[in-house]
Amino acid sequence: MVGRWADTEEEKAADLHRKREKEEKKRRKVEKQSREQKEAYDAAELVEGKSDSTREKLPTDLPALTLEEGRKTILLRHVASEWGPCRHVDNFERLNHIEEGSYGWVSRARELGTGDVVALKKLKMDGTEASGFPVTGLREIQCLMQARHRHIVDLREIVVGSRLTEVYLVMDFLEHDLKALQEDMSEPFMPSEIKTLLIQLTSAVDFLHSQWILHRDLKTSNILMNNRGEIKIADFGMARQFGDPLPKMTQLVVTLWYRAPELLLGAERYSTPIDMWSIGCIFGELLTREPLLQGKNEVEQLSKVFELCGIPTEDSWPGFKRLPNARSLRLPPLRHNIGPVVRVRFPFLTSAGSSLLTSLLSLDPRKRPSAHEMLNHPYFAEDPKPKSTSMFPTFPSKAGQEKRRRVASPNAPRRGVAPSISASTDFSGIFTSRDAEATGPGFQLRMM
Ligand SMILES: Nc1ncnc2c1ncn2[C@@H]1O[C@H](COP(=O)(O)OP(=O)(O)OP(=O)(O)O)[C@@H](O)[C@H]1O
Ligand SMILES: [Mg+2]
Repeated sequence: MVGRWADTEEEKAADLHRKREKEEKKRRKVEKQSREQKEAYDAAELVEGKSDSTREKLPTDLPALTLEEGRKTILLRHVASEWGPCRHVDNFERLNHIEEGSYGWVSRARELGTGDVVALKKLKMDGTEASGFPVTGLREIQCLMQARHRHIVDLREIVVGSRLTEVYLVMDFLEHDLKALQEDMSEPFMPSEIKTLLIQLTSAVDFLHSQWILHRDLKTSNILMNNRGEIKIADFGMARQFGDPLPKMTQLVVTLWYRAPELLLGAERYSTPIDMWSIGCIFGELLTREPLLQGKNEVEQLSKVFELCGIPTEDSWPGFKRLPNARSLRLPPLRHNIGPVVRVRFPFLTSAGSSLLTSLLSLDPRKRPSAHEMLNHPYFAEDPKPKSTSMFPTFPSKAGQEKRRRVASPNAPRRGVAPSISASTDFSGIFTSRDAEATGPGFQLRMM
């Protein structure tokens, strides 16, 4: 009896030991996989920032690696289990062209089998077949697969054409994008509508950030809207996953007018606040129908940012001087009125509204609210309350008939070398117009 008891105990202990070993092995394998995936991401990111002449060439830049090892390092992994063979694009009838962007051509199409109207985005393949599948396309697919949310455009499937370079994303079709729509509207959205739009946008961004995804190109033309007042974020060509600790990433992201100051100043480690800055720019644009900060180049963009949001100081943005492009900026003397003037620029906003906008446009990324914090901001709780989407007006769809009309605006950045802001860049004169002004809380005095 005693012997049998002892045997069973031993067996149990051995079983337990085997089980633990197995679990440990599994854990190590998962850890190794995620480490490899992260390294692959970082390597691909650096390729992107390094040169326009694509991934194939990178391994030769790395003397310590053989070509084969180099290729392995920049391989991006996919959630492959969810993929089967892709259908042919012939299953769709092209209805009309909508838009050519930096990374693809988008058209409206009908699925022959179901009659569903969809959007087809044909990925641009960097010009030549030899350069392989573009990293922006891979990221777009991977992030869209992961980002299933009611306010993020639904990726239905990937279809292919007859040639290797023909890869299409099939997405739900939405009638408008916020940029083209605003250009056609005679008045800006009403405050209650702006709140609804911002809540939808921010809830999608909150979800993305919780999934460790940065969008990195939030702007009104990448926000789609249907005729039921619902918006969905699109264009994940610049999106990528990030982690903790933050990896080094390229600064060549986000369309210039929506680009955060830390990116303009060359930060290589940045995080979710860059998307929150873009939301601030979108908020300002919704209020006036005009893009908020329209610089012609990086230097002018930065100067417009400083004019609106103030000059960075060690108090307002501790450590900004250590950013690569900040070291030798010539900034105005501190006797100038150097604070933000968001409140003055939007005098019709309530104080809760302008405090939200001012905080989104904080120069110091740490001072911007997270998407989650933004959703709980008092601005959304005060009157007028956010309008129900069912009460939104409907607008005639431009995408239904022809190419969407657009006032010229900058494209998403292309891969390549980020322009550095030169050592002699002089911002000292940008506040001369403020010299004769004194600003008080919520109003402005001009000395006559
Ligand atoms: N699902 C969709 N339904 C309707 N229109 C869409 C859809 N997806 C994209 N579009 C339209 O096509 C335009 C370009 O699409 P998208 O932004 O994905 O391409 P892109 O090449 O990455 O553009 P860019 O780099 O210039 O921002 C959008 O601004 C929008 O007007
Ligand atoms: Mg776009």
